[in-house]
Amino acid sequence: MKALVLAGGRGTRLRPLTHTSAKQLVPVANKPVLYYGLEAIRDAGITSVGIVTGDTGHEVRQAVGDGSRFGLEVSYIPQEAPLGLAHCVLIARDFLGDDPFVMYLGDNFLIGGIAGLVGSFEEGGFDAQILLTKVAEPQFYGVAELGPGGEILRLEEKPEAPNSDLAIVGVYTFSPAVHEAVRAIRPSGRGELEITDAIQWLIENGFRVHSHMVDGYWKDTGRLRDILECNRIVLEGITPGVAGQVDRMSEVTGRVVVERGAVVENSVLRGPIVVGADAKIISSYIGPFTSIGRGCLVQDAEIEYSIVLDGSSVDGVSRIAHSLIGRNAEVSRASGVPNTHELMIGDHSRIQVRA
Ligand code: TTP
Repeated sequence: MKALVLAGGRGTRLRPLTHTSAKQLVPVANKPVLYYGLEAIRDAGITSVGIVTGDTGHEVRQAVGDGSRFGLEVSYIPQEAPLGLAHCVLIARDFLGDDPFVMYLGDNFLIGGIAGLVGSFEEGGFDAQILLTKVAEPQFYGVAELGPGGEILRLEEKPEAPNSDLAIVGVYTFSPAVHEAVRAIRPSGRGELEITDAIQWLIENGFRVHSHMVDGYWKDTGRLRDILECNRIVLEGITPGVAGQVDRMSEVTGRVVVERGAVVENSVLRGPIVVGADAKIISSYIGPFTSIGRGCLVQDAEIEYSIVLDGSSVDGVSRIAHSLIGRNAEVSRASGVPNTHELMIGDHSRIQVRA
């Protein structure tokens, strides 16, 4: 069994972060979301992994390397443009050979791992296995319509008027039969080779396609609110530990991680939170479900339910919540008159100011 991890794509929903970096490397509890997927693959006993990359390929290679750090053997498969999930299977043909494989979307987050899924696929002798979960807004997902006996009737990619609320989770398993399917289908209306069309082709051509409901927690981290929610879930389970320095004036409550080299002075840390290595938290409040990246400075500020990436500073500002702050960004208080907000923000950024 091999694994095909998709780490290319456009990432339009996470602009401006994805203008400069891969969405699969956005950190959840200070660890890139892609690492959780690679660890789940390793824990399922798979070692041979192909990673499909796009414009951010260089950064993904730098972060994952040859995979030995994860106990994996990683090869890279550059994709010339984000032409669809089934296109990724098409270009990975040489890497995959005639082995069965698990296809894992690099921005997906699945608690509970994939060992059970891989096991049931191998035992069942299926040609494809998909995972389904109920969602509130099925129009944003690949959607499956099931028959009375639980059989898959129809799959549709982001339907305008969904016939079911069952979304397809971004972890699939395939036999080599899928190669014929991805060669047979044509690009959809949005110009992509859709994996839902390839699976539909398998069903229509008499191959065995199986679905089952996910029992654990799943999120596609393609949107801000989903990343913040994943961050919350992971932080809820972290093991607290203070390797940095916390002074006597500071108050630490709940699950709090302070990584090596970090300094906390005269501050309130209310877990679950993680403060990255070499960060400085001075006279500030860090509230629940917050991840502060490495080398950040938070001073005279209050922040909660947020993610701050490495090297950024938040100085003199209260109170930041539900926010994702990119790398080496600065948020600070304006002083003097006139009483204005002074902004220099990247393309496609979103700022909400309470006037
Ligand atoms: P999506 O999130 O469906 O697509 P996207 O990355 O283009 O994002 P957006 O909708 O915000 O513009 O992709 C799922 C995963 O698959 C993600 O990790 C990116 C990856 N991917 C590829 O590697 N190649 C592709 O051609 C596509 C469409 C996605």
